[in-house]
Amino acid sequence: MNNHITIFDTTLRDGEQSPGYSMNQQEKLRLALQLEKLGADVIEAGFPIASEGDFQTVREIGRVVKNSTVAALCRTRPCDLERAVEALEFAAKPRVHTFIATSDIHLKYKLQMEREEVVEAAVKAVEYAKSHYDDVEFSAEDASRSDPEFLIEIFTAVIEAGATTINVPDTVGYALPWEFGDLIRTLNEEIPNIDQATISVHCHNDLGLAVANSLMAVQNGARQVECTVNGIGERAGNASLEEVVMAVETRKNNMDYTTSVNTKEIYPSSQMLAQVTGKGVQPNKAIVGENAFAHEAGIHQHGVLKNPLTYEIMTPESVGLTCNKIVIGKHSGRFALGKKLEQLGYFLNKEDLNDVYTRVTKVADEQKTVEDHDLISIMSMMNDMPARQPGKMASGG
Ligand code: KIV
Ligand code: ZN
Repeated sequence: MNNHITIFDTTLRDGEQSPGYSMNQQEKLRLALQLEKLGADVIEAGFPIASEGDFQTVREIGRVVKNSTVAALCRTRPCDLERAVEALEFAAKPRVHTFIATSDIHLKYKLQMEREEVVEAAVKAVEYAKSHYDDVEFSAEDASRSDPEFLIEIFTAVIEAGATTINVPDTVGYALPWEFGDLIRTLNEEIPNIDQATISVHCHNDLGLAVANSLMAVQNGARQVECTVNGIGERAGNASLEEVVMAVETRKNNMDYTTSVNTKEIYPSSQMLAQVTGKGVQPNKAIVGENAFAHEAGIHQHGVLKNPLTYEIMTPESVGLTCNKIVIGKHSGRFALGKKLEQLGYFLNKEDLNDVYTRVTKVADEQKTVEDHDLISIMSMMNDMPARQPGKMASGG
């Protein structure tokens, strides 16, 4: 089995479905080009039947994106499929992504269909898509709450009909990592024609387990992970692209997988999405949050300034940030303060540093952090301190 993980980005589709994240065509186009630069193998551009706007956007993205596959989502209904096929008309690498629910609860209350009818609809949809494009993905919505025997049956049938990717969504974010891993292993072992398709996973984050579940699936045979920038998506979101990719990159000593993502484009992608949607990233968000590479505690600052590997498992540069951030606050020590002051052009002896430190800790007690301008103002108020030497500013920080 090859060890390359296909990164399927659904920021523009599932991500956009989260409240407050809707984007217009121009914004989606801008992001799609950034996702292509990021190295997403597949960009799910939208759900063409949803609106005329979504249809036109998928069409335009298909026209401009050249290196990534462009996917259009549709249910198994003929009108949905026709719209998706039409929207992909100009795409260099088109993929139709069709789905229908497979769990008993969805069959009974949402679809009001019997299992045989669901298999028939799925097969017909895949056959139709296949008659237009080679690349066809089939998703069994709510797969993690579906009967595994039924999943084996429907996936076998759609692969037979021409599906090249079968997707196993944890639609409601219910699965536990070991359970989800077992399900993927079972599918990999029991679907007789699985050698003709790639197993994909699509995990939601309702229990905060989307990334863990995705990685567990990879360990058990999945080779496509569906994810979004900043982890946005329905309800609690989807597996976060940056977390999946950086887990793989950072822990190569444990998991021998590759992705095509240019990790240096992670931070720019995250920032572009935040800017376009007007929704900031939570400060403690892994990889891309404001604090992901920030250090305030004195012991940590001391370590990081001596050697970043003491408290950083990846470099900020590897995800597209220029450097880590030393934050002066009430937990900071003299060492970090001295370094910070050097960066600002103040070179103090031990005694002067002690005086400034006392002053800074007072300010830090009153306000949450001490910014560069606070330090400069503190220095200007301290008598008999050496003058600032901006020309000699220390680098980094
Ligand atoms: O969560 C889900 O099941 C989906 C499918 C349409 C893939 O988004
Ligand atoms: Zn989803």
